Amino acid sequence: MKGIILSGGSGSRLAPLTKVTSKQLLPIYNKPMIFYPLETLLKAGIKDILIIVSPDRAGDYLRLLGSGKDFGARFAYEIQDKPEGLAQAFIIGENFIGEDNVCMILGDNIFEDDFSQAISSFKSGGMIFAKQVSDPERSGVVVFDKNMKALKIVEKPKEHLSDYAIPGLYIYDNRVIEAAKQVKPSARGELEITDLHNWYLEKGELQVDIVKGEWIDAGTFESLFKATELARKKSQKQ
Ligand code: G1P
Repeated sequence: MKGIILSGGSGSRLAPLTKVTSKQLLPIYNKPMIFYPLETLLKAGIKDILIIVSPDRAGDYLRLLGSGKDFGARFAYEIQDKPEGLAQAFIIGENFIGEDNVCMILGDNIFEDDFSQAISSFKSGGMIFAKQVSDPERSGVVVFDKNMKALKIVEKPKEHLSDYAIPGLYIYDNRVIEAAKQVKPSARGELEITDLHNWYLEKGELQVDIVKGEWIDAGTFESLFKATELARKKSQKQ
């Protein structure tokens, strides 16, 4: 299993903080934000990790993370020239992924759960996660039937469809590269990850597991603050 951390974008919602550096390098308590998703992948035993960054901040990432040796891993880097969507990561990462399966995590997503089990048991298809939240309209959502079978996945629906948001951790088999190449840009001009989930869902090959612990998408001032509070609480407990 290869790993990808998608850490592109301009983070305009967090300006002026993001005039200093990339959103995913901003501090969350005692560490840069990207350390959290990185630790999620490392904890799950993933050692080959591609970090996709925006062109103007690439130097900051190299300085901070380097070859990966300090983390007992191997890091590769690619540039996403423009924020053209999450699904584009699998096109940018085609050579890196090679023949393997891939687990992608977003550089601003912080998880409490350990995904080792999910990753080691993964065979084929797609595996995504769902978390009950109070503000699902900020995310992709999954609609379940009464047996918790996934029926439909919609990117940021305008009307309320479901309380279950889809966090930014995705596991796919190698076909995701071909699927990503078929995705057409959405109204916001992005290759949506939701289209990839649906590609697997339509084939009956998408598994959706529930995230039990905390999940934070640290893309706003409020969630950045919440993430800092959570990290502080955890570090004091330890
Ligand atoms: C993206 C995805 C969305 C997902 C979210 C998780 O949203 O498009 O499906 O639920 O990440 O953080 P974006 O951060 O691009 O608004």
